[in-house]
Amino acid sequence: MDFKRSDFPEGFLWGAATSSYQIEGHQFGGAGKTHWDSFAATPGNVVRAENGDRACDHYHRYTDDLDLLKAGGFDAYRFSTSWARVLPEGRGTPNAEGLDFYDRLTDAILERGLKPCATLYHWELPQPLADLGGWRNRDIAGWFGDFTEVIMGRIGDRMFSVAPVNEPWCVAWLSHFLGHHAPGMRDIRAAARAMHHVLLAHGTAIERMRGLGMSNLGAVCNFEWADPADETEAARDAALTYDAIYNRFFLGGMFHKTYPDRVLEGLAQHLPKGWQDDFDTIASPVDWVGINYYTRSLIGPASGPWPALEPVEGPLPKTQMGWEIFSDGLYKFLTRIAQDYTGDLPIYVTENGMASASPFEDQDRIAYLNAHVAKARQAISDGVPLKGYFIWSLLDNYEWSLGYEKRFGLVHVDFETLQRTPKASYEALKLALEE
Ligand code: FCB
Repeated sequence: MDFKRSDFPEGFLWGAATSSYQIEGHQFGGAGKTHWDSFAATPGNVVRAENGDRACDHYHRYTDDLDLLKAGGFDAYRFSTSWARVLPEGRGTPNAEGLDFYDRLTDAILERGLKPCATLYHWELPQPLADLGGWRNRDIAGWFGDFTEVIMGRIGDRMFSVAPVNEPWCVAWLSHFLGHHAPGMRDIRAAARAMHHVLLAHGTAIERMRGLGMSNLGAVCNFEWADPADETEAARDAALTYDAIYNRFFLGGMFHKTYPDRVLEGLAQHLPKGWQDDFDTIASPVDWVGINYYTRSLIGPASGPWPALEPVEGPLPKTQMGWEIFSDGLYKFLTRIAQDYTGDLPIYVTENGMASASPFEDQDRIAYLNAHVAKARQAISDGVPLKGYFIWSLLDNYEWSLGYEKRFGLVHVDFETLQRTPKASYEALKLALEE
């Protein structure tokens, strides 16, 4: 790598991130069905109709995986807790095996000197709650609060940090407006409700964890830089609307107790009654903010109703996902978010990385990380209180609707034998973190 640990301030945390459904193997240990199981079982939704039944079998191999983190010189591990593993019905009686698993996992993380950084929800909604309307149903805030208390009642005493929801934009917009993720809806009213309810659930979980006496609680959102596809006024306007939906809605709710006018223009009529009264919960104070950043989009106008925009193919080199590599976007977001929303609050890059088809000699991933870490350094020297950087992902894993084909891991996983093999990027990072 062309950076090393000592280039960063004392105490800067280096970590790797994963999520439960993408690695654990959801058929093991008494987990309940999730909306991803039914989404994947529906023809056409997921490449080869793959699901998370076995994934990386982390459920049985977690000690080996944590050994890889330790040997790689990482300081922290960002993982998630599956709601359906803890509460197979989404509510009611907990699954003792599930709670035991997260308890063992927590201790194993700590035994290796790593900091446990939990995300409560990384998308595996229990199917019985999806049957009740899932994120469209306002009651989800309370259900999520109850789940928060059950899982954090067990492991909350040992967490370094906790964030309720991974990427509200994906939970709401990608899954209810674009239909690319479970539950695969394409409905503006469903999307509006999910956008508001996911924030209400976030705030409720923060309040419940404060009630448990917990601290170092945060919010993790994803951001995509939006540039106009051309010089026209119409493209500029479309990019601003895209930016408002993607990058300003969720932080706007959490930090300014309001939603951007550009989004309300399309969604106000679909938001649940009384939405304006929920901001005290939504904006319940957090201790840090996590930024997940991968790419940018070029946006142009489209015919049809609001938001009347569409992404256009861009000219930059692309990853295996077809995502443009645009490291400037990370710098732009770090500085913009600190300035417009979070001020002195610590910021973490909670996800950054790339999918590469190269199984072991992933020089492209090394170059991608070098470019993005350089932007993080630049942001720090310009005064952004960035406190850590988590790479997505430790392992090749289940990349949602793209199945097992897209490889984000620092460590290669053979999905036949489940053998783990560190890639060149893992070895390079290990050296960088030693110095
Ligand atoms: C993020 C998700 C993560 C993974 C990466 C590539 O949006 O949080 O689960 O899919 O993208």
